[in-house]
Amino acid sequence: MSRPIITIAELAKHAGQEVTIRGWVYNWRKKGKLRFIILRDGFGYLQCVVFRPEVDESVWETAVELTQESSVEITGVVAADERAPGGFELKVSGLEIIQIAPEFPIGKKDHGPDFLLNHRHLWLRSKRQHAIMRVRSELEFAIRDFFQRRDYTLIDSPILTPAACEGTSTLFETEYFGETAFLSQSGQLYLEPAAAALGKVYCFGPTFRAEKSKTRRHLTEFWMVEPEVAWLRFDGLLDLCEEFLSEIVARVLDRCTEDLERLERDVSKLRPTADGDFPRLDYAEAVAKLKALGSDIQFGDDLGGDDETLLTEQFDRPVLITRYPADLKAFYMQPDPSDPSRALAVDVLAPEGCGEIIGGSERSDSLEHLERQIAAHDLPRESFEWYLDIRRYGSFPHAGFGMGIERCVAWICGVPHLREAIPYPRLINRLNP
Ligand code: 4AD
Ligand code: MG
Repeated sequence: MSRPIITIAELAKHAGQEVTIRGWVYNWRKKGKLRFIILRDGFGYLQCVVFRPEVDESVWETAVELTQESSVEITGVVAADERAPGGFELKVSGLEIIQIAPEFPIGKKDHGPDFLLNHRHLWLRSKRQHAIMRVRSELEFAIRDFFQRRDYTLIDSPILTPAACEGTSTLFETEYFGETAFLSQSGQLYLEPAAAALGKVYCFGPTFRAEKSKTRRHLTEFWMVEPEVAWLRFDGLLDLCEEFLSEIVARVLDRCTEDLERLERDVSKLRPTADGDFPRLDYAEAVAKLKALGSDIQFGDDLGGDDETLLTEQFDRPVLITRYPADLKAFYMQPDPSDPSRALAVDVLAPEGCGEIIGGSERSDSLEHLERQIAAHDLPRESFEWYLDIRRYGSFPHAGFGMGIERCVAWICGVPHLREAIPYPRLINRLNP
């Protein structure tokens, strides 16, 4: 049998066997007749030991030439070793250099965030970024699985759109064959019609907001998952938010143990979320609580970033803030029947200062109300005619929410700034790489 080419994730199946592994030199050090190469291949890290008396002189000489991030193919016997991270090391018999890398820009010393972001294409190779990307991937898979198993249909919403969904101040405009198009701020307006066609739907894709603020919680391009459900009312929506968040967090805790350890994430702070049972606070209660905690917020004000942090510090799991003043929220929300000045809106705030990760609402099902809202929000009526059709042809109660993936990743990973929660962040001052 020829020698298998394997990944570091597959070592356990090959103990005692000679294998070849392809990857990059993460690090190396020498000690007398020994050379220790830490190889990374995208799946893990492996210590490879070159012992001079046991290898051809050519292999030893090759080992001497190595530099950080050189690409190599290493052959050797997989040896179980309790002291080795991962439980195995490779006793090297062959070493082939694919390319010797010049000095890697990201060295051992501390680099500032700008330097690292300018080298994002290389920074992704670091242990920390590797772990974050793995958590993100698992989270996205958990989200799709959540909806798939509950019989939702995936509806891919368009990115080029004729109108605003979440306010006109953060629209990216582009010329579109003599017309103006906008990059989508949310797939919601397209999901509502789809919910009438398919009952339970969701979209999951990139979303764009020309956010002029430089905060750690805002990207100009981010990924959002948005479910929309026919016949779902506000209370059911709150339950859905809770079930969704607790399940996806539980799944990531279960499947990303090593990645979270590498990130030195205190997972005891995430476990309560997996149990569900999220506190629910009416907006008025939230304002009163904030005042008692020393905030100068007044009834009618939106919660600022500091307020969100202050409030979430009181709980060990996400908190649902409900029934905001309608004036603070988007045009499409259903007024609260018991007080029409409030909207049947919910924001879910994540603990540890992460702030809002979900925004959702019951949708207005009244044609007249929506017509008034579109006028009141100064939105171009012509661009919304098709949307209003959903209230003309079999209007129905429905509700949904949107969650920004990066905010959820940042929270789960314990990363303070969203720029590390997406492979290639887009920020007000950053379009590169
Ligand atoms: O609260 P938002 O604006 O709600 C909507 O877009 C609704 N149409 C969603 C719906 O009901 N279908 O945004 C939803 C979430 C926020 O809670 C936040 O997690 C994320 O999207 N988000 C951002 N994430 C990163 N950068 C930004 N600039 C974001 N703006 C919103
Ligand atoms: Mg919001």
